[in-house]
Amino acid sequence: MVDVILGLQWGDEGKGKVVDYFAPSYDIVARFQGGPNAGHTLYIDGKKVVLHQIPSGIFHQGTQNIIGGGVVLDPVIFKKECATVESFGIDVRKNLFVSHRTNLILPTHRALDKASELYKGEGKIGSTLKGIGPAYMDKTGRNALRVGDLLNKNFTSQYIKLRLKHQKLLDNFNFTEDISSWEDDFFEALEYLRSFQIVNGEYFINNKISEGKKVLAEGAQAAMLDIDFGTYPYVTSSNTISAGVCTGLGVAPQKIKQVLGVTKSYCTRVGSGPFPTELEDNTGEELRKLGNEFGATTGRPRRCGWIDLVALKYACMINGVTDIVMTKADVLDSFDELKICTSYTIDNKETQEVPLQMERSPITPNYKIFKGWNTDTSSIKEANELPQNMKDYIAYLNAYLGTNVKYVSNGPGRDQLIIL
Ligand code: GDP
Ligand code: IMO
Ligand code: MG
Repeated sequence: MVDVILGLQWGDEGKGKVVDYFAPSYDIVARFQGGPNAGHTLYIDGKKVVLHQIPSGIFHQGTQNIIGGGVVLDPVIFKKECATVESFGIDVRKNLFVSHRTNLILPTHRALDKASELYKGEGKIGSTLKGIGPAYMDKTGRNALRVGDLLNKNFTSQYIKLRLKHQKLLDNFNFTEDISSWEDDFFEALEYLRSFQIVNGEYFINNKISEGKKVLAEGAQAAMLDIDFGTYPYVTSSNTISAGVCTGLGVAPQKIKQVLGVTKSYCTRVGSGPFPTELEDNTGEELRKLGNEFGATTGRPRRCGWIDLVALKYACMINGVTDIVMTKADVLDSFDELKICTSYTIDNKETQEVPLQMERSPITPNYKIFKGWNTDTSSIKEANELPQNMKDYIAYLNAYLGTNVKYVSNGPGRDQLIIL
């Protein structure tokens, strides 16, 4: 049996915190896509940790963690991350497995990401510059090196061949930065990675499922950044939605039970691309300040706006969301008035559907206005203590989405999650 936790907006919904909360109820936590573009923030003993590639179950001794085949892994970032986890007294090798199908991010992938963004200029994606796009391009282009290849004798010659190809592309971009030190770090990190438990990920997971073990698949990025269903081309390069669990881990669709979708009580986006409910005013600034909305991976300020139910309902549909976790409810504590986007007006027509290209024509969001609750909710533990105005806000979401908010997160801490 596999349950899934994934993002329903443009990322940074608080997936890491939610996975860390639920991990003790699972035998295995698995990342199925994405790579170090993700930044999942957890608070362990009150100390902040940001995980990029290691699943967010790593701090629970009784939970095994696997980096699945759908992930693109940067060994250099992996090594640093492992050191951070170890600084908490965790034996990282014991409970962490890496699938042999996991694709490697090479230093030249990072260089190509940078060169491509520079080439795009104004039209850039706003990539995290971690080499994600180029690494997935090599996967679908059938050139990639995978973790299992590390065990081949001819790995170095495979690497050199691909590196030469990348150099030609970099020359085309007139990219002249010296990346030799990146390569030194890469080869050192590969040695480190080789010392981990590299497994047949698909058998590993399916055998555990057959034994009756519970698997939790941890999404990175989110529905609106999905390569197929997101705001293309301003997306990431993997399938971030629940279907990605099947291809990323090698599990059949009928093995998936619960799909827990995570949304903020408002909305943010980092990087370029359309964002209909974005607030480029004092209210947006207030949300950024109160929500501490700065990227966990790049530190960039996140764009902020009201919750968008058109996009959220679409995300619930595509993912088959069974229950919703609404995070950062506490960030709305001091607003007198809150807005919920219930439809878009595009070319003078009102619609509740996400269009193919959000940027083709300007989108005017139509809002329903709610009274704020003006109460500090961050120390509330029980659902019945939540202010009535928050209950009304949630009831509206439930009715519109046809899927219920079952959990409310009211702070970044492990214990700040209320079951409704
Ligand atoms: P992820 O990428 O989805 O795991 O989310 P990030 O870690 O990038 O961003 C979420 C941020 O919000 C982190 O700084 C979390 O510590 C913080 N956070 C998560 N849940 C809550 C919440 O309910 N309230 C508040 N105030 N912060 C939260
Ligand atoms: P988590 O898992 C928010 C965004 C980037 C950029 C676009 C493409 O922490 O929610 P990429 O590096 O993938 O080529 O960037 O996607 N992006 C994210 N935004 N949270 C993330 O991950 C993201 N990962 C990528 O900002 O706009
Ligand atoms: Mg994040």
